[in-house]
Amino acid sequence: MLISTPLLCLALSLLKLATAQDLSVPTSWRKFSNTRPLSERISIAQNAINSILPQLNSANGEFNGKFRYLKCIGYWQSGNVWSAMANQDRFAGTTVNKVQVVNNLKNVFKLRANYDQFGPLYMHIGHMGIQLYWLMQSPPGTMSQTSDVVTASQASAGRNPNKSFTLSSTCDGVTMAGGVFWRPTSDDQSINSITTGLSAYLAEITKDAKYTNAAILSANWLRSHNLNGNIVLDTVNAHDCSRSPANWLFTYNSGKFVEGLSVLADVTGDSQWRTLMVNIVATAVKFSAWQGSDGIITEGVSTSSNNDGVGFKAIFIRGLYEAFARNPSNTNLRILIHSYIDVQYNALLDLAANGSTYSSNWHGPPQGFTTWGQLAALDVFGSAIISNN
Ligand SMILES: *[C@@H]1O[C@H](CO)[C@@H](O)[C@H](O)[C@H]1NC(C)=O
Ligand SMILES: *[C@@H]1O[C@H](CO)[C@@H](O)[C@H](O)[C@H]1NC(C)=O
Repeated sequence: MLISTPLLCLALSLLKLATAQDLSVPTSWRKFSNTRPLSERISIAQNAINSILPQLNSANGEFNGKFRYLKCIGYWQSGNVWSAMANQDRFAGTTVNKVQVVNNLKNVFKLRANYDQFGPLYMHIGHMGIQLYWLMQSPPGTMSQTSDVVTASQASAGRNPNKSFTLSSTCDGVTMAGGVFWRPTSDDQSINSITTGLSAYLAEITKDAKYTNAAILSANWLRSHNLNGNIVLDTVNAHDCSRSPANWLFTYNSGKFVEGLSVLADVTGDSQWRTLMVNIVATAVKFSAWQGSDGIITEGVSTSSNNDGVGFKAIFIRGLYEAFARNPSNTNLRILIHSYIDVQYNALLDLAANGSTYSSNWHGPPQGFTTWGQLAALDVFGSAIISNN
């Protein structure tokens, strides 16, 4: 196998040249620019945040899903509200939201180890809040994101000490090292993209090689096991290598990987991660599973009841924003991302707005306030502050 490596590399680099990504903006996209001044973009975003805050349940840091039933939108969706609010301060250069964000995250961390509703080490959403917590506080040394990663030795031994089943050492001939379990439950066999796409932030913030190595291992896992072309798939079963259904194509899987790769490229200085990130962006913003030729995201439309899928597109936009921010010299990439964000921005404002509240259906029509619809819009508004001039 080793002998053929140089040939394989040559073949791969030729392939890359041949499939160099098209970063052009489709002219069929609906309204891919805007002329709203910075101050207006900041107030649109802050007003959208202010409209969700009355739903805060300060006992548990979550938001009520106020529409017909009074129940919360779930703690990971709620975590995304805190992320959007922290980003709002970052983008607007203010501290308007800081006290709320810090106090509520502190409260949730007090209630739940590792911001985790479902048991220790379940990092799925905690990670969004946690990243911000890390950014705002000094890094707490007690948490580790590496514990749920399948290590190289666990993969070859076919065992993880916390799991009751045998691990498949390889799937399709490639090691399963680097995958991150969806849940810590001893019989849960799923390794998925959303949990695997993240540890680069920890590497960047802590500068600890342990996290850099975990992030590289995980990026390799994702590339080898869970990419179809340039679209990130959902789940691989660690025991028998079976996959999530072919139609489980969610924006947030590609979004989190784009975000993680953008950070990993900066942390490692290794250009292969930037190249992979650009390829995924170029494909994902034109992918027919979640938008038509007008470019408006159609995923996660749920106008009358809460659905976790509504918030996926917000995570996608956040990942794209991170790629935009971290690649100042890639003009074509930045124009593509800016245009895509503006398509969503203009759709929300023209088609889905009722005052400062927004439908989860970005094609509209406007409707009464829903917490989940409002949450999904926040990242678009925040990103549009920065991605426009
Ligand atoms: C197993 O779970 C315990 C407790 O949740 C944790 O401290 C430990 O790091 C886990 N070990 C592995 C190998 O994942
Ligand atoms: C706008 O929101 C208000 C308050 O939630 C609601 O009463 C009204 O019906 C909404 N308008 C439309 C056009 O849906």
